[in-house]
Amino acid sequence: MKIITTVSETHSEMNKVKELGKKIVIVPTMGYLHDGHLSLLNHAKELGDVVISTLFVNPKQFGPNEDYDKYPRDFERDRNLLEKTGCDYLFYPEVSEMYGEHFSTQISLGGITKILEGVTRPTHYDGVALIVLKLFNITKCDVGIFGQKDYQQFMVIQKMVNDLNLDIQLVMAPIIRENNGLAMSSRNRFLSQEEFTQAAILNKSLIAAKEKILGGMRKRNEINKFITKSLLTSSLIKIDYVETVIDFTFVLMDEFHSGDRIVILLACWFGTTRLIDNIIIQL
Ligand code: PAF
Repeated sequence: MKIITTVSETHSEMNKVKELGKKIVIVPTMGYLHDGHLSLLNHAKELGDVVISTLFVNPKQFGPNEDYDKYPRDFERDRNLLEKTGCDYLFYPEVSEMYGEHFSTQISLGGITKILEGVTRPTHYDGVALIVLKLFNITKCDVGIFGQKDYQQFMVIQKMVNDLNLDIQLVMAPIIRENNGLAMSSRNRFLSQEEFTQAAILNKSLIAAKEKILGGMRKRNEINKFITKSLLTSSLIKIDYVETVIDFTFVLMDEFHSGDRIVILLACWFGTTRLIDNIIIQL
């Protein structure tokens, strides 16, 4: 695996790859890789000829009181994992390489960036969109692969791709879970043993709600209340939001109907750790 730290070298390497007519797949990450990331990489290898992973903890997607400084980092560990997975290139820039002294451009997508995650984290998705657009441009990728765990993020990126007419195919890869059903996340390492055990309630509640919905529960309020009640059986949980939306558009209906594809999204705190999860249900 070739490690590149500058934009100019990435441009020239990717130009060579393009000249050979090869398809480039990007797997953007903030590092501290887990099996969820590795499944993205394995998936990426099936989608194109050359896989470039990026490792960059993007300061612009963290709010002032969020965990940018605390975000877990372990470059050597990540590099070994990427090498073992057969990644071709790793783009690993410094913050100064991505946001030089005179950097001032901002992206503001509006729409779905302002709801759910966007309420608690108002500048988060503008920061994500900015870095992802830069990474798409730097790597000249044809395909971008992102995990379903960050469902709203995927839809924000898809919206940016559509609105800005980017010639990039996006692929959503399924959520990879711990043995107890908790969605894998770099932040899970901050959970105590007891919090980790209790956090299994997120996935359990989503699965129980799916059964209820397929059994006929169709009113949005009832669905949200059912999940909230189920989540609150954990003594350590603090709920940020639970919401059920129409897939892709995030339209909030009072009641869902056969043929709708809906998504239940939730965010909860266990101590100082914020976890998100979701489930997609075809009615
Ligand atoms: O999902 C993430 O890890 C990040 O938001 C991403 C897409 C790598 C952008 O920094």
